[in-house]
Amino acid sequence: MRSFLLGVMALFTSTVLLAQQPVNIIPKPNSVEAKTGEFVLNSTTLISYDNAESKRIAELFQSYVNNQYGINLKTAEKKSGKNVVRFVTAAKGGDEAYQLEVSPQGIDVTGVKAGLFYGYQSLVQLLPLAGKQADLKVGAVSIKDEPRFGYRGLHLDVSRHFFPLEFVKKYIDILASYKLNVFHWHLTDDQGWRLEIKKYPKLTEVGGFRKQTLIGNYKQPGDYDNTRYGGFYTQAEAREVVAYAKERFVTVIPEIEMPGHALAALQAYPELGCTGGPYDAAQTWGVFDEVFCAGKDQTFEFLQGVLDEVIGIFPSEYIHVGGDECPKAEWKKCPHCQKRIKDHNLKDEHELQSYFIQRMEKYVNSKGRKIIGWDEILEGGLAPNATVMSWRGDAGGIAAANEGHDVIMTPNSYGLYLDHKQGPDKNREPLSIGGYSTMEIIYRADPVPQKLEESKRKYIKGIQGNLWTEYIETPAKVEFMILPRLFALSEIAWTNPAGKNWKEFSEKRAAHELARLDRTETRYRVPEVYGLKDTVIYASEYTVRGLKSSVEGAKIYYTLDDYDPSELSLEFPGQLKITVPNGSERVFKATVVTPSGRKSNFVRVQIINTKK
Ligand code: ACM
Ligand code: ZN
Repeated sequence: MRSFLLGVMALFTSTVLLAQQPVNIIPKPNSVEAKTGEFVLNSTTLISYDNAESKRIAELFQSYVNNQYGINLKTAEKKSGKNVVRFVTAAKGGDEAYQLEVSPQGIDVTGVKAGLFYGYQSLVQLLPLAGKQADLKVGAVSIKDEPRFGYRGLHLDVSRHFFPLEFVKKYIDILASYKLNVFHWHLTDDQGWRLEIKKYPKLTEVGGFRKQTLIGNYKQPGDYDNTRYGGFYTQAEAREVVAYAKERFVTVIPEIEMPGHALAALQAYPELGCTGGPYDAAQTWGVFDEVFCAGKDQTFEFLQGVLDEVIGIFPSEYIHVGGDECPKAEWKKCPHCQKRIKDHNLKDEHELQSYFIQRMEKYVNSKGRKIIGWDEILEGGLAPNATVMSWRGDAGGIAAANEGHDVIMTPNSYGLYLDHKQGPDKNREPLSIGGYSTMEIIYRADPVPQKLEESKRKYIKGIQGNLWTEYIETPAKVEFMILPRLFALSEIAWTNPAGKNWKEFSEKRAAHELARLDRTETRYRVPEVYGLKDTVIYASEYTVRGLKSSVEGAKIYYTLDDYDPSELSLEFPGQLKITVPNGSERVFKATVVTPSGRKSNFVRVQIINTKK
């Protein structure tokens, strides 16, 4: 009996040893079959490719393994046999579909174009955490994957704050690593024009700079930094970004704002405004009355000249023309604008805005491109071929889909405004514009609104996160604001919603991916400890249990004296009973500290014993 039991136990142990390994990929692949066993990659492993396209991806993998683990692998053409990682160009599904087969004998990544690249991205996420090691174990798995949406975007405002070219490339690397495929580059706004236009050189020479910038939170009148601020990208640099993005299967969609958010352009060319100026590029944030004059033909000639060059630089099917937040006050007073309204039998200034966008759309269409605009372009009548970016909630997106227009969902109500603060208490967060969006809010959102009629749902082409940078002055803060919320964004963009599981996503895959990021220089916000929320409890005794670290390998520290916990505090023992004397209180605070020493915000539980 005893030996039988031992035998059963041995069998059990060996099964455990052969158990399937977790498949920690973000965004979660749409079909995953974990298998038993593993592939061991080491310096004897070969990387194989079958043409120029797969050779490029094979070399990406080669340099990744070299950089992360110090293992130098050789590449070869069309290798069969064991101990080979094969990148195979073959279509099974669309251009973004891929298959990834890991067995003890080898690894096959199959796809074409973006698909092969996404297979590579999934494979690197399956490798162990970085560090010098001889054997990289990858659990056996069979993955068949392709995205739910064709448009998976991330936006960056470079007007409110300017970001160096090298960082723009890093931003593209980050979004591509989570299988996003659109970089929406917000290049113009009231606070600075950031793209060189050869026909209108003052746009960047003059419009690329503002006299000073508001400091601290928006208030009126505010405090300023007394420092001239600006910068711009040359056309050569913009082309470099387009080429860099293309190699990562990312389309760059440029945005040229019209008719509002135009102060920087008007500072350079005041004759394009209703009054003729003078105008100053904005030094503070918000919405400004001074916009492009819709009555002067000169305005349209100018914008067409700008778009001619923009279209020459950016091969994207879409050109974003803004369209949001255009006050009508100046148009109401302007004789040119009023004449336009009269000449074209327009009802009011909303129809004038619609005239403006439709006229620009006609021009863009004549060049073989399409326009996207923010959801205000619905007001006064939608341009016939326009795609709508729904940002003020999803109502605009629903209205546009009901009219048969394509829609990109970016609403703040789905958490997709990544400039919003990431915790409920602003005093624990860096300066931000306000609002509130967490990884969980985004994860739980569905980009296809339930209230949208079934037959119209096909018009929802995808989603996008927006990063407005009024309060984001540095690349480090950009990273902090997008990570890890980007994980959830990529997952709702890529993964079908069936089987959504917040606990599995946050505590396993996101925690693992954060451990990977923790070994890099890239900043991210460490999520608060899971299993605890800020609360006040009335009791003489309270046991804290069930806490989970938000980053794999991180530790949880606590205090009982209302001081902020850190790695200098006590480590949470897994369970802690707190007794509170009568008429007294205790404050329990817990914080996650990662292996690299990064800290989460604390979570605070106040336990009050009101007994006399
Ligand atoms: C926007 O957030 N103004 C589109
Ligand atoms: Zn006017």
